Amino acid sequence: IPDSTQTVAGLRDRIAQYRRAGESIAFVPTMGALHEGHLSLVRLGKQRADRCVASIFVNPKQFAAHEDLGTYPRRETEDMKMLAGAGCDFVFLPQPEEMYPEGFATSVKVEGLSEPLDGQSRPHFFGGVATVVAKLLNQVRADVAIFGEKDYQQLLVIRRLNEDLDIGSEIIGGPIVREEDGLAMSSRNAYLSSVERRIAGQLNKVLRQTALKLTQGGDVLGSIEDGHALLKHAGFGAIDYFEARSGKDLSPLGPGKLTEEELAHARVFIAAMLGRTRLIDNMKVTEA
Ligand code: PAJ
Repeated sequence: IPDSTQTVAGLRDRIAQYRRAGESIAFVPTMGALHEGHLSLVRLGKQRADRCVASIFVNPKQFAAHEDLGTYPRRETEDMKMLAGAGCDFVFLPQPEEMYPEGFATSVKVEGLSEPLDGQSRPHFFGGVATVVAKLLNQVRADVAIFGEKDYQQLLVIRRLNEDLDIGSEIIGGPIVREEDGLAMSSRNAYLSSVERRIAGQLNKVLRQTALKLTQGGDVLGSIEDGHALLKHAGFGAIDYFEARSGKDLSPLGPGKLTEEELAHARVFIAAMLGRTRLIDNMKVTEA
């Protein structure tokens, strides 16, 4: 089991100890209920630095009142064992009062990149993420901080704030780890019933099909409309978004066919409800 602390002071002590020994530091922030996706980031961290520090904090600021803060899975003992197995050296486990003490009043807002996609369907979300990640990055001051491409928009938002606030860590993106049927691993997959779990794999299949059509010169609007119909037929509920955008800056693409230049950076992004569970996925179009 890796050493851990619940306090910023305890974290800073350990970081200082690593620095005195001349060691480089990688940082992987999480909300726990860990799976192979998170562990892949820890392993990437260990490849990139001498020490890997992880955090587990279910950040209340990134949940709206109607969302799943209260039921978000919490499995600390299991998480700690998994982190140890992946080579994590130290874990920061703050309580909400440690991160947001009485009088806390600052929020971080990344304009532009926070606005489309998840910013539309979850208006509170990126403010909460940017605020907590700015704090975490400042607390750890790692050489590299690692985020998954599963949350691709989040990765871009964090790159932006790291640069704008002169935090000075290098932000690295890790590839999406998937289940055998293509479903992107997520702590929220635990909410799926067995029937829903069988349907869930269709999200990635449809995403991949849509991406493939775009590489073959299909027009954006038509290809996405076809995908929409397939998802509805498979049993998905509301589709929050299903869009093609540039992976560089999230600028919108389409409605017609993509140019060579657009294709080089195009990604498709999707968020859809399956029962009460909201699933997201994305893919670089040329990797379909
Ligand atoms: P969480 O959902 O726990 O994810 C922690 C990190 O793991 C994120 O960088 C996320 O993109 C990555 N991740 C999740 N599933 C993945 C998968 N299947 N493959 C690869 N990487 C995956 O994202 C958050 O927590 C929070 O918003 C956080 C950044 C910790 C701020 O609270």
